[in-house]
Amino acid sequence: MTEYRNGNVPGGTHEYETWDAAYVLGSLSDSDCREYERHLAGCVPCQDAVAELADLPPLLSLVNADVAAPPCPDLLPGLLARADQRLAAAADSTQLVTAPVVEPQTVFPIFRTGNYAPVHDELTEFDLPVVGKIPDELNGWYLRNGPNPRAGEGHWCVGDGMVHGVRLENGRAAWYRNRWVRTESFESPVPNGPYNPDGSRNLHSSIANTHVVRHAGKTLALMEFSLPYEISNDLKTLGVHDFGGTLTDSMTAHPKICPTTGELHFFGCGNIFEPHVSYHRADADGQLTVSRPIDVPALTLMHDFALTAEYVVFLDLPLLFDLGVALTRPYERDLPYRWDDRYPARLGVLRRDDPYGQLRWFDIDPCFVFHIANAYDSGRNAIVLEVLRYDEMWRHNSDFGDDAALWRWTINLDSGVVDETQLDDRGVEFPRVDDRLAGTAARHAVAVGSGALIRYDLRDDTAVEHRFGGRGGAAGMPGEAVFAPADGRPDELAGWYLTYVYDPTTDSSDLVIVDASDFEGEPVARIRMPRRVPHGFHGNWIAD
Ligand SMILES: [Fe+2]
Repeated sequence: MTEYRNGNVPGGTHEYETWDAAYVLGSLSDSDCREYERHLAGCVPCQDAVAELADLPPLLSLVNADVAAPPCPDLLPGLLARADQRLAAAADSTQLVTAPVVEPQTVFPIFRTGNYAPVHDELTEFDLPVVGKIPDELNGWYLRNGPNPRAGEGHWCVGDGMVHGVRLENGRAAWYRNRWVRTESFESPVPNGPYNPDGSRNLHSSIANTHVVRHAGKTLALMEFSLPYEISNDLKTLGVHDFGGTLTDSMTAHPKICPTTGELHFFGCGNIFEPHVSYHRADADGQLTVSRPIDVPALTLMHDFALTAEYVVFLDLPLLFDLGVALTRPYERDLPYRWDDRYPARLGVLRRDDPYGQLRWFDIDPCFVFHIANAYDSGRNAIVLEVLRYDEMWRHNSDFGDDAALWRWTINLDSGVVDETQLDDRGVEFPRVDDRLAGTAARHAVAVGSGALIRYDLRDDTAVEHRFGGRGGAAGMPGEAVFAPADGRPDELAGWYLTYVYDPTTDSSDLVIVDASDFEGEPVARIRMPRRVPHGFHGNWIAD
């Protein structure tokens, strides 16, 4: 900033050209504000610019409850355009941000290196080599989604979605494929991403990079700010899926399938205009049956939710959309969400048998949760959630800091009090249970730790580890482990965990199969991938 203060910026543009939005947003320091007002008194172009931006404060009402003016959807395209054309430049030369700025190169240093780096082509390989023996009962597809940007920089969370899939069949690894999800915005990028020129959302615009879920005969690639995209099990993109035109909202990447009814429960979020969150339900045949708004004060990052036999539970946590960050992009790889100490952390409980009824809200200590491991109704008129809890998230930028740990929340529906108990101090993420037990008291949850899978016994509150050796002897790096049940056996330990494991010493990956009944033993099979599989997010086993 100071290098431009006493002279023109390179190229001859006005020295204060990029200060207008910061002034309107109130983001300038006191001294800069006084300096700009002295300049403003004699500068007609800046006066015009400030007048043009006078409609910004109403938009702040979306993220700041203290501002009473209503939001105006028509303003959004202009804001986005300004962000592209002018405010992005401002980020380099003003303090147009709500968080402290650090040198960009020190932020997110890992997201394009090592196994976070993308691969640059799509492979198809047949009859993969195997060390060990693939169980004959495993017939189906293991599909896992993740970010794989085609070019440029960006936060790890926002790269183009690529699914890595392996077909297992009669004891052999029949094929491996990796394919980008070819959404409409992948094929023809749109200037304003998920927004139309009239300010409405373009829900077809998607990076589809977060999860793969099978429901009602459709395999869906999901990212939480858009509609799902249907793909085939051999990874062809079939097109956007909007439930026959009935869903006009995004779908979370973590929908829940009720094992009893076959219903798909999910929510939509990411809308900067109200409703910020909506709840939806589809029946077992894939017909949308419920859509209703959820009343929350602001747009927060709501990544997961919980389903039990009786309830749906929403997480309203203090990680808020930050318009100032969205407009200024202080870091090239940043996301526009920031921790806010003023925003209370709450759990919202909705009865499944009264889907349009009132939610009950329960206060909890400030925290953030990406993923819920397990949720169920307790016989004592309570709901239990076992979650991976962070003390806070993204206070200064959207880099990842301290790890999450396993906690248990018990929502007492009689007293209105939530009991919060830490169960373990290991840093873990990407928890999974046997999906056949969704909404019930699953005993075992498997999460990813450092060089290991951690399996929690949620009945006895104990844990065991499976550590991975790489091909070269160094620790392997597993991803999310998905449970593939053995045919016809309801036992949580009758089946196998599947996960891609990266070996940093050889820059290679295996699909590793661990027997759930011998969790700490040697894997039953390591399927050699033709090339490393980058770290990704979530996936599923889709049995024949
Ligand atoms: Fe997730």
